[in-house]
Amino acid sequence: MNIVVASQKEEACQYAASLLAPFFNARNPVRIGLATGETMIPIYQALVQQLTAKGQHGVGEVETFNLDEYWPIDPSHPGSFRQYMHRHLLSLVGSWIRKSYFLRGNARDPDFECRRFEGLLGEHPLDVQLLGLGINGHIGFNEPGTLFQSRTRKVSLTSTTKERNARQFPGIMPDDALTMGIADIMEAKAIILVVFGSDKRDVLIRAILGQVSEDCPASILKTHPHVTVVADEAAGSVLARRSPRVNRSITVTIL
Ligand code: GLP
Repeated sequence: MNIVVASQKEEACQYAASLLAPFFNARNPVRIGLATGETMIPIYQALVQQLTAKGQHGVGEVETFNLDEYWPIDPSHPGSFRQYMHRHLLSLVGSWIRKSYFLRGNARDPDFECRRFEGLLGEHPLDVQLLGLGINGHIGFNEPGTLFQSRTRKVSLTSTTKERNARQFPGIMPDDALTMGIADIMEAKAIILVVFGSDKRDVLIRAILGQVSEDCPASILKTHPHVTVVADEAAGSVLARRSPRVNRSITVTIL
């Protein structure tokens, strides 16, 4: 695992975007797992900037897969992750995208929908998965206590997650969501975890320095062979003090 800590959030966003841009610019088919949340907004901004600088266009080789979606929710609802993705990224980089896949928040049968999505992931393994971190250690909507072998499924949101996400949700948030499971996330060839802000500092320390435990879903990422964690100073200051290494398998770089 490589941890990169930037003194400014802006720098961290540019760095995270620079890790993603080569996937978008690949000349061969590539599958990218995308995430939502406040953290990702400036990263997508930086990515759009990097991709479209000098009037460049894509060659349409990218397939995107979104990590999760509220349920039930209409895909046209402004609070849906599908709309979020269109607003912040997909409508701005259309020429790069071959196809975008989402969990359908309006699926009548959520279990069937999750099996459908799981099947797509099986046919299209992810080259990279972008992740944010919940303040309780969740990844996707895999809340603490989720089995590491979990697959795509319907879950109930915890009150912590609902309170936090209400900041971005217009109207009344659904109680449930559909999410890729932890085992699905771990099958991505590479993972980029982005963590900003002092309120994520403790959970990031727990995920990186604590034991691998289902109480902190993000802790499993330490066992993946290709993970980059990008943090700003506010979230990563304690880890930055461990530079250049936390142990044999975790390096820390300060930008
Ligand atoms: C949300 C999403 C995650 C996201 C995380 C962090 O609930 N399901 O995909 O990465 O929590 O969100 P934020 O960046 O808003 O703190």
